[in-house]
Amino acid sequence: MKAIILSGSLRENSNTEILAESVIKHLEKHDYDVEMVKIKEKHIEPCTACWTCQDIFESHGCPKKDDMYEIYEGVLEADVILFASPIYSWYCTPPLKAVMDRLVYGMNKYYGRKRGPSLWADKVCGLITTCGYEIEAGAGVLNEGLKRYCEHSNLNYIGMCAERDMAGKEHFRRNEAMEHTRCFVERIVEAKGV
Ligand SMILES: Cc1cc2nc3c(=O)[nH]c(=O)nc-3n(C[C@H](O)[C@H](O)[C@H](O)COP(=O)(O)O)c2cc1C
Repeated sequence: MKAIILSGSLRENSNTEILAESVIKHLEKHDYDVEMVKIKEKHIEPCTACWTCQDIFESHGCPKKDDMYEIYEGVLEADVILFASPIYSWYCTPPLKAVMDRLVYGMNKYYGRKRGPSLWADKVCGLITTCGYEIEAGAGVLNEGLKRYCEHSNLNYIGMCAERDMAGKEHFRRNEAMEHTRCFVERIVEAKGV
C-alpha cells in the first residue's frame, strides 16, 4: 500500500511534522510505502478558476506548469492521502490550501459541459494537525471542512490525528502522542483492510 503525506508546515522542526514522522513509522510497520511532500519546498500556484480541467476526464487536466504535476501523480498512485498542517486561523496553512484547491478541481470533474467522475474516488483520507487551542476549538473547523471535502470528492475520510502545542517539542514525542498516532494508523489500516 502507498500513502502520501502532503505537509503544509512552514517552519523547520515543525510540531506537525514531528507528529507526521510518528505516523510514518507506524505506517511502515504495516509495510506501507510512505512519501512526505513538504509543500513549502515546491512551487505551487493557486487555482485561478480557468475551468480547463473540468472538461478533461482522463487526467488532472490543469494547464499550469508548476510542481503540482508531481503531486497529482503521487496522489493518483497512493491508496491513502494524508493532509498535514498546523492550524492557522482555524484552518490549514496557505500552501496546503492551494494544493487542496488544485486537487478538488483537478480530481473532481463535476462542473464541465458534462458531469464527469471523481478520479480519486474511494481512496482513504485523513488529517494530521497541531494547534494552540484545545483540539476541538483549534482544529474542529478544519476537521469538519475536510469531512465535507471528502464527502464531495467520494474519498473515505477517517478523521484527524491532532495534538495541542502547549509543552514544547517533547510533547509531540511523548508516549501519549505516539499512542494517538498508532491509533490513527490503526484506523487507516482498518479502512483499507491492510
Ligand atoms: C499565524 C498563526 C496562526 C495560528 N492560528 C491558530 C488558530 O487559529 N488556532 C489554534 O489553535 N492555533 C493556532 N496557531 C498555533 C499553531 O497551530 C501551533 O503552534 C502549531 O503547533 C504549529 O505547528 P508547526 O510547528 O507545525 O508550525 C497559529 C499559529 C500561527 C503562527
